[in-house]
Amino acid sequence: MKVAIIGGGGIGSTHANAYRSIGANLLAVVEPLAASAEDFAKMHGVAAYSSLSELISSKDRPDAISICTPPFTHRELVEEAVAAGINILCEKPMAHTLEDAEAIYVLTQGSGIVFATGYCQRFQPELESIQELVAGGKIGEVRTFYNSYSSHQDGIENRWFGRKELAGGGVIIDTAIHSIDVFRYLCGEIIAASGTMSTVLGESDLAVEHTATIGLRSISDVIGTIDCSWKLPNGTSTVSVGGSAGRLTFDYDKEGEIVFESADGSVDTIHVPTGDRFAREVEAFLESVRYGLPARTGAFDGLVGLTVVDAIYRMHEANTISPLLRSGNA
Ligand SMILES: NC(=O)c1ccc[n+]([C@@H]2O[C@H](COP(=O)([O-])OP(=O)(O)OC[C@H]3O[C@@H](n4cnc5c(N)ncnc54)[C@H](O)[C@@H]3O)[C@@H](O)[C@H]2O)c1
Repeated sequence: MKVAIIGGGGIGSTHANAYRSIGANLLAVVEPLAASAEDFAKMHGVAAYSSLSELISSKDRPDAISICTPPFTHRELVEEAVAAGINILCEKPMAHTLEDAEAIYVLTQGSGIVFATGYCQRFQPELESIQELVAGGKIGEVRTFYNSYSSHQDGIENRWFGRKELAGGGVIIDTAIHSIDVFRYLCGEIIAASGTMSTVLGESDLAVEHTATIGLRSISDVIGTIDCSWKLPNGTSTVSVGGSAGRLTFDYDKEGEIVFESADGSVDTIHVPTGDRFAREVEAFLESVRYGLPARTGAFDGLVGLTVVDAIYRMHEANTISPLLRSGNA
């Protein structure tokens, strides 16, 4: 099976390493910036093309691609790949707008191709272990979810990430979209969402939010709190699920360890398998293609992410406090 990467930037390289690590037949990259294309091709030992159409009409025409380009390009690339019958692993967010996400969802239904949304956190083995423990009743009736994915991203606001018309928003659509998916994975479908966010950075007011907190509620009334930021000095990545019989927590700095705090106050470390989430993600994608199975995180999951993010942005606008109170003059 021939594989290609579309977009030879940061995550394109991560996907390339992941495919190579599982021995996949990675042949090409599509990258319009000549210098980046050349570097990528050299680094990963693949051929470089400047557009998807050029790749499709070449000897390296792929059976499967990873779309690793900025979100505003996803819809057009998906349209072209679906028309050519090429299977797609599309990075999150599925699109930069709900409208484009809906179009991708409709396009991929019944198309005969495998469409996977790149929610790599679902392939983090420790989260899979938490899911199994929760489903097995380890923490009783599930009540709370807490997650933080924070980092320090110097100058991100000056890249496409900081332009709403290219990215769709800031840290929520970029980072918390993973959290929204992890919440659904561990706690069930979302029926309510809200959030508050900050765009002010020093003297600047950014076009998108860099820090946010989100509240979610699942169909079975689990309450989720998600913190995310591009602008904290030290990154934190944790996931915690609490219930009537205890709490399970995974801190990404402690691979292979889940902390269980039981209702009686005792604290145990549960040792679980670990592994590379990207390698596991691309392996699952290629397996779906090989056996004609639906992707573990498909177009529906991609669309739900955009639907929840869109609701949070709309709620935030609706909830903005009067300018009189904000200015402190009241
Ligand atoms: N799953 C994750 O953890 C994760 C992490 C980082 C980024 N991402 C996602 O991956 C995508 C890319 O992010 P990035 O950080 O790699 O961005 P990037 O800017 O580093 O790389 C994107 C590359 O795509 C190229 N490109 C633009 N338009 C193209 C087109 N039409 N065809 C082919 N190439 C094109 C650009 O020239 C650039 O080299 C985004 O959707 C982002 O949200 C996911």
